[in-house]
This record gives sequence, structure tokens and C-alpha cells, in this order.
Amino acid sequence: MDIYRKDRLSAKAAQELAHVIAFGPVVFQITRVMMKEGIFNILRDGSRTVPEIAHQTGLTEYAVKVLLESSLTLGTVLRDPDSGKYSLSKVGWFFLTDPMLKVNVDFNHDINYQGMFHLDAALREGRPAGLKELGNWPTIYEGLSQLTDVQKRSWFGFDHFYSDGAFDAVLPKVFARKPARLMDVGGNTGKWAMKCVGYDPDVHVTIIDLPQQIAMMKQQTEGLEGSERIDGVGVNLLDSSNSLPSGHDVIWMSQFLDCFSDDQVVSLLERAASALAPDGHVFIMETLWDRQKWPAASFDLAQTSVYFTAMANGNSKMFSTEDLFSDIARAGLEVINVTDGIGYGHSLVECAVK
Ligand SMILES: C[S@@+](CC[C@H](N)C(=O)[O-])C[C@H]1O[C@@H](n2cnc3c(N)ncnc32)[C@H](O)[C@@H]1O
Repeated sequence: MDIYRKDRLSAKAAQELAHVIAFGPVVFQITRVMMKEGIFNILRDGSRTVPEIAHQTGLTEYAVKVLLESSLTLGTVLRDPDSGKYSLSKVGWFFLTDPMLKVNVDFNHDINYQGMFHLDAALREGRPAGLKELGNWPTIYEGLSQLTDVQKRSWFGFDHFYSDGAFDAVLPKVFARKPARLMDVGGNTGKWAMKCVGYDPDVHVTIIDLPQQIAMMKQQTEGLEGSERIDGVGVNLLDSSNSLPSGHDVIWMSQFLDCFSDDQVVSLLERAASALAPDGHVFIMETLWDRQKWPAASFDLAQTSVYFTAMANGNSKMFSTEDLFSDIARAGLEVINVTDGIGYGHSLVECAVK
């Protein structure tokens, strides 16, 4: 696929990119601190000298020079050689204005950064070898409720940022046949379930998730209008002997299947197929890396796969169309409709029993 190929770059640009990669961890941290210390923000208001920035941030001139000279050669700031004043570059401007960048930086710093040191072991051994940097759990999902507040904010900020924007857009499609019973598998904190009960005054939603998440979901939805039509079942679906409750008109899986290996996905979809009411449908919402409009989105998704490898579970990744559709077919389901370009690059894949 042409848009992912970097061999169209000039030799000079290719060499520069290679050098940026080699210092990737350093420029990541520099950029994060530039955001945290508000220096991009200061430069938004106009160009500044080193002493002016030191004064405004309370950092030493030495610290400001280190940050600015790294950022200058990286390309997030510019420097006027006559006045010595720094200003924001186009790249730096995106760090101020694109909320996705902030979400990704927080996620990478608070969740991934230290664990990525163990990526090679994770790839060799098929387990999330970096997760020990956050806690002692078999997968990150068992540990979500025990993350520190900062880690929780970054993990849920990342998760919700990507799915929240898509939820409203797909409600009319999911509710087109007026389902009476909807099951949300991997329903997490109940955000989608709350949208459903708000959208349809009659629907009943059952959330399936790990017991720890069901407890968090109950806390977060308690007393909210419509929450009496939501119930939760705490179960570990990695155990394939755990079936899904039957009789559902819609089974909804959003950003859920990407937490599992292909064989596990097939098992989950087989269990979903058995839990459907007659004429029921499975709706899968995922960000497929090869169905993105923009190269930056494909890039982000392919790098998010590495989080699954090193931190989350060691054996899943963001799907390509081929992988997801092959798993769907192996589970005895067929794809009857696909809608792309929802929210931040989600696809809604509607399936029925073959
Ligand atoms: C990435 S989150 C997606 C949450 C939500 N559906 C959304 O779209 O934002 C994946 C969810 O799957 C749940 N999950 C992961 N492994 C599970 C397992 N073995 N059994 C049950 N639920 C699991 C997680 O607890 C989490 O709530």
C-alpha cells in the first residue's frame, strides 16, 4: 500500500527520519516536557528568548536551552538567528491543537514507556513482559482497576478518546431493527451502555466484562437515568468454557476483540453466534489499520499494536481487514455490512450467522 511507504522520501529526508528514530525516546520525553512545562503554549503567544521562557516557566536557562535546542533540531520550534528568539513551528503547533497527540503522549508515558524496554522478551515469549513495570497481573485488564490515578487517567483517556467519538454516530445503525436486548461484551465503564439506554427507552443492556470492571461500571453508572436497564455479568472470557448469556438481538463488541489472539477471537465470536436471538446481529467496532484515510492514523494504530504485545496481553494487535474477516468467517459468521470512517477512523462491521 503506497501511502505507508517511506521510500519516496529524498535520501536526505530518509536519513533525517532515521536519526529521529534512533533518538526516539529522547525526543519523545523532550516533547512531553515541552507540553507539560507549557513552553509550546508560551510560544503560541509570540516568539521568546531563552531568559524570557526561563522566567515564565521557573526553569533554569540551562534547562530551557536543553529543551529548546533539542526541539529546534527536532523541528517542533524555530529560532530566529538575529534575535535568538524561539517560536512555534507547524509541528509544534499540532501538539497544542490536536487533542489526539496529548492523549497518545500521556498513554505512552504513563502506560507504555518503561514496559517497552521488555519488548523483545514479549515478542519472543508471547506474553506482556513489560506489564511488570505497572503491576503483577497476567494481562493489563485484570489490573486496570488497580492502576494509579495518573495511569488510570491515561489508560481510560486513551481508550475513551478513541471510542467515545464513534458511539453517537453508530447508534442509529445498531438500533435500526429496534433490538430489545443488547449485550455489550467488554463494556468497560458502561459508557456505550449508557448511550444505548439514553437512545432507546425500552432497550435492556447486559454488560459482560471482568468482575473488577463490572464493579467499576456499577460505581460509575449508579443512580444515572436508565441505569436500572443495565446489568453486568463479571466473567473471564479467556476461559472458553464460559459461555455468553443467550437471547440477544444485538451483540456489541467495541475495541474488544483487539484484546485477543486470532484463535481466542474465533472462540469469542463462536460464543457470540450461539448467544444471538433468531435474526440477531453481531456489531464489531474496530480501528483497522489498513482502512484509514490518513497515514498518521495507520501509523498510530500499528504502534498501538505494540502496546498489546508488550503491555496488554502479549498476543493481540490492531486488526487488518484480512485478519478480522478471516476470524469472522472461521467463527461461522458472515459480514453483511461495513461502514468505515466513523469517529477517529473506526469501522463498524455487522455480522450475521451464515
Ligand atoms: C479496550 S477496552 C474496550 C472498552 C469499550 N468497549 C470501548 O469501546 O471503549 C477492552 C475491554 O475488554 C475487557 N476484557 C479484556 N479481557 C477480558 C476478558 N478476558 N474477559 C472479559 N472482558 C475482558 C476489558 O476489561 C475492557 O473493558
